Amino acid sequence: MRLLTIGIVTAILVTLVAVLIPWLPTSASEEMDRITFVYWFATIICIGIFALVVAVVLYSVWAFRAQPEDDTDGPPIHGHTGLEIVWTVIPAVLVIAIGVVSAVVMSQNADAGRDPLTVKVFAQQFAWRFQYPAQGDLRSNELVLPLGRNVRFELESADVIHSLWIPEMGQKQDVVPGVQTKIVITPTRTGRFTLVCTELCGLGHSTMRAPVRVLRPAAWEAWVREHGQQAGGGQGGGNGAAAADGAEVFATAGCGGCHAFAPAGSDGQIGPGLDDVAASARAAGQEPAEYVRTSIVDPDTRLAPGYAAGVMPKTFGESLTSQEIDALVAYLTDGEG
Ligand code: CUA
Repeated sequence: MRLLTIGIVTAILVTLVAVLIPWLPTSASEEMDRITFVYWFATIICIGIFALVVAVVLYSVWAFRAQPEDDTDGPPIHGHTGLEIVWTVIPAVLVIAIGVVSAVVMSQNADAGRDPLTVKVFAQQFAWRFQYPAQGDLRSNELVLPLGRNVRFELESADVIHSLWIPEMGQKQDVVPGVQTKIVITPTRTGRFTLVCTELCGLGHSTMRAPVRVLRPAAWEAWVREHGQQAGGGQGGGNGAAAADGAEVFATAGCGGCHAFAPAGSDGQIGPGLDDVAASARAAGQEPAEYVRTSIVDPDTRLAPGYAAGVMPKTFGESLTSQEIDALVAYLTDGEG
């Protein structure tokens, strides 16, 4: 009896220590609330049982150790049916409970409800791009979500496996080339967060992040209207418009994640700096525009000194339209006169 009391008291104390420390980020989604519940449901059971067993073992070693000079055998015993039933039934019940609770939560977290907002996510080394099909195919390199609505993400990768994760929102999903994966997130808190890539995907993996903002529904609608106009307003026109578009492409294609370019305010260090492409083109014996275009579409043709092949993705020739590439070339060679 005393043994059991010691075990249970220790289990409660150790569990309290574990629970009272805020290990997890403050939840910002319904899914994270459920994940946190499953996490603690399983963890408290594990910590409780572990502490109970260790306390009983340590107490037994201390209380029932053989006295000096005592060379006698212990009394012969032949098992204890009641005890064996107890230590079989209790773990079975606990493991089944963990399984059932997890299955319920996984099914709830996969349910996008009746009227989800769909956001397409394009991942490529080393940037995230977002598209809102029901909002006129609005494109953004910032993820802006309305509070309290189910958001269903459809994920595509242009190159290797990435993984989408917003720590405060719990849900985590691999982005696999050739497969469209899905995940549901329902934000419950306004504010700014960070979407991170959580699958090692190359040299720029640690820079593959995107800003996330959760807005109240009215503010989100306003953002959609305003951002839609901005994106639409830059189309067509002369050189000025092309340069403006180029800045947009530079931002949404994630060029700044790897390249330093003063007009874009980027300071990436993975690829060569782009502030003097004219000099690099001269060194390569090419026209700046031709040099830049080749470097985007077929980057391993002529590598900048000191940079390795295979780091710059070879997918931009497909993932960007020819107008976008034109705009990007104009933007990067602008003012090189
Ligand atoms: Cu993309 Cu790591």
